[in-house]
Amino acid sequence: MRNYQIEDLPDYFKQYKKSIKNPKKFWDNIADKNFVWYQRWSKVVDYDMTEAKITWFKNAKLNIVKNCIDRHLAERGEKTAIIWEPNDPKEEALYISYNDLYKRVNKTANILRDLGIKKGDRVCIYLPMIPELAITMLACAKLGAIHSVIFAGFSASAVASRVNDCGAKMIITSDGSYRGSKVLDLKSIVDEALEKTESIENVLVVKRTHNEIKMKEGRDHRMADLYEKASEDFVTVIMDAEDPLFILYTSGSTGKPKGMLHTCGGYMVYTGYTFKNIFNYKENDIYWCTADIGWITGHSYILYGPLCNGATTVIFEGVPTYPQPDRFWEVIEKHKVTQFYTAPTAIRSLAKESTEWVDKHDLSSLKVIGSVGEPINDEAWHWFNDHVGKKKCPVVDTWWQTETGGIMISPIPFVTPTKPTYATLPLPGIQPVLMDDKRNEISGNQVTGNLCIRFPWPGIARTIWGDHQRYKETYFSAFPGKYFTGDGALRDEVGYYRITGRVDDVIIVSGHNLGTAPIEDSINQHPAVAESAIVGYPHDIKGNALYGYVMLKEIGEGRDRDNLKKEINQLISDQIGPIAKLDKIQFVSGLPKTRSGKIMRRILRKIAEGDFSNFGDISTLLNPEIVDEIKNERLG
Ligand code: WTA
Repeated sequence: MRNYQIEDLPDYFKQYKKSIKNPKKFWDNIADKNFVWYQRWSKVVDYDMTEAKITWFKNAKLNIVKNCIDRHLAERGEKTAIIWEPNDPKEEALYISYNDLYKRVNKTANILRDLGIKKGDRVCIYLPMIPELAITMLACAKLGAIHSVIFAGFSASAVASRVNDCGAKMIITSDGSYRGSKVLDLKSIVDEALEKTESIENVLVVKRTHNEIKMKEGRDHRMADLYEKASEDFVTVIMDAEDPLFILYTSGSTGKPKGMLHTCGGYMVYTGYTFKNIFNYKENDIYWCTADIGWITGHSYILYGPLCNGATTVIFEGVPTYPQPDRFWEVIEKHKVTQFYTAPTAIRSLAKESTEWVDKHDLSSLKVIGSVGEPINDEAWHWFNDHVGKKKCPVVDTWWQTETGGIMISPIPFVTPTKPTYATLPLPGIQPVLMDDKRNEISGNQVTGNLCIRFPWPGIARTIWGDHQRYKETYFSAFPGKYFTGDGALRDEVGYYRITGRVDDVIIVSGHNLGTAPIEDSINQHPAVAESAIVGYPHDIKGNALYGYVMLKEIGEGRDRDNLKKEINQLISDQIGPIAKLDKIQFVSGLPKTRSGKIMRRILRKIAEGDFSNFGDISTLLNPEIVDEIKNERLG
């Protein structure tokens, strides 16, 4: 049993209470002390949680890049801002100082501007984990363009739909990418995507793999050619705190991906503040987050959060197991990493290797280790704590979302005692609440419910690009007046939170959020498919894997089942990307449905898990007999 109460954590509790009592003063103080502004705000926060209208630091003027780079030059000009570690350990790492980063960003901003990009324009970035990914994002921010990074594992169709949704004028890509032993041809994926888009005027191509690529006259430009001629001077564009900084797409339980929009002022304050506190960052630390910059974790905690604090941040191009399963440990030893932030799926895949891989490296530089993206199971937590942190580094299990901009619930190192599988306590300024299905707030401890947030925080996304109504409905209507996270959570006897997982139709596979609807839409495009339903089931390494129930049309009945499975997965790969492929496919003659035609996923989930114990009352289904049939086929 625990022998303390939250009130016994005086440092935390005092701060927390103060932040809740007067959130305006709390955030005013943080924004004022830690960042540089061209002009101060006239009001800290304005909000209407029913209309989903939120404004932070009204009328303030700033540029996030001035905070991330320019202001550090006087004191830290020669300090390394970015350590770039390539995919292949035989290739040399790159050390980019703040001075150097300043010049590179300025040159790139000039290139973008000369190609017609101006404040408010959207620029898609489809690059591997190379320095140019960070540099082009910062160049956009410096000139006021809105970047929208597309994870370089997405297919041409997924790229096209994002480009179209945000109406991007430019896309930045590379001749290819190295990931482990694979070489991917990104430029031809872009070429294919652009056949289905109209808004793109220019394509900028960075050299990485020396792949032979086709260049379209007038549209495509090689970055290297323009870079040589570009000026190193650039006048920073002054932004309003509420001007958009970037759009990042995330999966929803229904329909197309949602372009979450983050704005300049609040996002900067929130990522800068959380980075410093959660990673206990000190001046000479070497910080490494293994996420891809194509996801929010990379945006907030590889790029903006660390650079706002003048930190040294590692960008790693490769994968944990290439060329051998000790690649992570080798990089920690090589660069003397002090903070290491990764995902449960990576921990589980490395934990299944022999501990010799980790034990043969000197990891004594580590001070804090962290996890993000999905619930971390007990076994993985302990393995991480024992073998990586050697029981001397606090494990920060950080809960947050693309929509929240930054970390919301997490231990604070050396302040909050950790508890395996618990994200523990809300950060100062964050007010979580648990709600029951009848929209009542659940008070007290040792309870579970739907996780909501009561008061806005600076990092919250302001809208879904082009669809404020959807933003309002998705996040602010289920529990009026509160932000609904889509997650379920448990609050233990002292008030620690444990995130239990999604309560909607988003499934997290290897830390990637996947909506069931877009996958089902892809499957249903197969000419032999009548209908389909996707559910998640537990997987040792990926956390969840995808199980698809597919009902065929008559023309599909005579077809070879193995070929059909391959074709279905190929369709998903083409439309979304290989990350969304199904692990198991079961052909069924019908799907269990309610009388209103809704698929009963709860039952399908239990069957996929192999748990046939109690399906609850199925007599109200339109077709209860189908449940036994599906169950028997699953067994047989
Ligand atoms: C899940 C990633 C448990 C959660 C930053 C959330 C977590 C979704 C944790 C957001 C954690 C993230 N423990 N679950 N520490 N961190 N999640 O938008 O379901 O890619 O809603 O943002 O990941 O995923 P997203």
